[in-house]
Amino acid sequence: MSHRTLAAVLVVVALGGACSSPPEVPVGPDGQPDPVLAQGRDIFGSRCSSCHGTSGGGNRGPNIQSEAVTTKYPDIADQTRVIGEGRNQMPAFGNRLTPQEIEAVARYTREVL
Ligand code: HEC
Repeated sequence: MSHRTLAAVLVVVALGGACSSPPEVPVGPDGQPDPVLAQGRDIFGSRCSSCHGTSGGGNRGPNIQSEAVTTKYPDIADQTRVIGEGRNQMPAFGNRLTPQEIEAVARYTREVL
């Protein structure tokens, strides 16, 4: 393989990786991402993005990016209830995630997506 071809392959791999992982949590004033939001990102990537899209923009499930969810659910408790109990084609996560994990993923969608 020529160096040129190899470089092109590496670019494709790098872009592919960027597209398939959810948006990073921005770092705070201490230079670290909020650990709860980082946990929410992991949960989002493993449990939610398959239906809601890598960036939460919607796919099988609706758009759950910050503007959509904070408009529809001004109180986060109403959003965590949907995640815990499920609704129609949305599976219930109350028996698979702890309340703290549900809160973390809800915060990630509200504050990062
Ligand atoms: C199997 C596909 C699927 C998975 C996995 C899934 N969802 Fe959903 N989700 C849906 C669908 C479909 C709806 C729309 C439900 C309805 O029509 O009432 C929905 C609705 C929602 C809503 C309400 C949106 C609104 O506009 O009212 C939220 C919030 C939500 N999902 C969050 C999550 C989170 C967080 C996860 C991961 C823990 C997740 N979903 C995983 C399919 C999924």
